[in-house]
Amino acid sequence: MARTKIALIGAGNIGGTLAHLAALKGLGDIVLFDVVEGVPQGKALDLSQCGPVEGFDAKIIGSNDYADIKGADVIIVTAGVARKPGMSRDDLLGINLKVMKAVGEGIKANAPDAFVICITNPLDAMVWALREFSGLPHNKVVGMAGVLDSARFSHFLADEFNVSVKDVNTFVLGGHGDTMVPVLEYSTVSGIPVTDLIKMGMSTKERIDEIVKRTRGGGGEIVALLKTGSAFYAPATSAIAMAEAYLGDQKRILPAAAYLSGEYGVNDLYVGVPVLFGAGGVEKIIEVSLDDEAKANLQVSVDAVKELLVACKGIDPSLA
Ligand code: APR
Repeated sequence: MARTKIALIGAGNIGGTLAHLAALKGLGDIVLFDVVEGVPQGKALDLSQCGPVEGFDAKIIGSNDYADIKGADVIIVTAGVARKPGMSRDDLLGINLKVMKAVGEGIKANAPDAFVICITNPLDAMVWALREFSGLPHNKVVGMAGVLDSARFSHFLADEFNVSVKDVNTFVLGGHGDTMVPVLEYSTVSGIPVTDLIKMGMSTKERIDEIVKRTRGGGGEIVALLKTGSAFYAPATSAIAMAEAYLGDQKRILPAAAYLSGEYGVNDLYVGVPVLFGAGGVEKIIEVSLDDEAKANLQVSVDAVKELLVACKGIDPSLA
């Protein structure tokens, strides 16, 4: 059987980290694609030279030609512009929408059978546009946000409770932005809901509210510190977990931006929800019951995503 092929569209900070992780984990051969000449080739060569040290033999090439992604099994898209201090994810909309058009067309022409994971921000709008431009089935195009958002939430909770992060399992719904909805009832430490841990005196509602706020602004906190770009290690590792779930038919339930057609009362939109991932891509969207507060917060988040789509359609009438 031929080796699995992973194509990474965008060879910037996240793209390079994705390539390194994919090689270390032996996911397959790797193509790093970028519009800038030399960068994907240089990174591919540098990464290939890790092979003798790490003991991986993945073939890693850099390219500026979409023909090189032909036959890719998984494509992870980070092409576009990352946030600088003072920019919201939504400020990126106009620039990155054009990029999604070029990328979607490149995928459509060269790798229509791939499973596609979009990371480019503003995530929920960009994954929707990428799906539209590529014409791939909805179950094969998803957005990476929830794994990252819940990883951030889990990290902060593990610190707060002073427990191993291995035992923390968090649940985040909605768009990837300041309106995301971390749900406390479904966030647990070894099966004990955070709401119960508060009752047990392990923390206070006020402290957990602060953590929820910090999780929502988790990306912005890193942008403010880095000053020249946005987070890349955790976004890359989160997308790799999704790629592994697909390639290994793992039947994992991971939060992701998935296309909704009626679930959670939402239609024709990509929003963060729990998704069962397997060889079929998005095999099932898991619908959990939500209390009134979570429902209202989700609605705010959905409305924010809808506004972005209206803006996308205004910029590119072919999407209307
Ligand atoms: N096709 C392919 N690559 C492109 C295109 C395009 N049309 N336009 C830009 N790129 C490339 C850039 O040349 C750059 O190498 O995308 C890469 C982006 O890399 P970085 O600027 O380092 O950004 P990164 O941190 O990797 O984030 C990428 O993910 O989390 C989101 O908000 C983030 O939208 C941003 C994306």
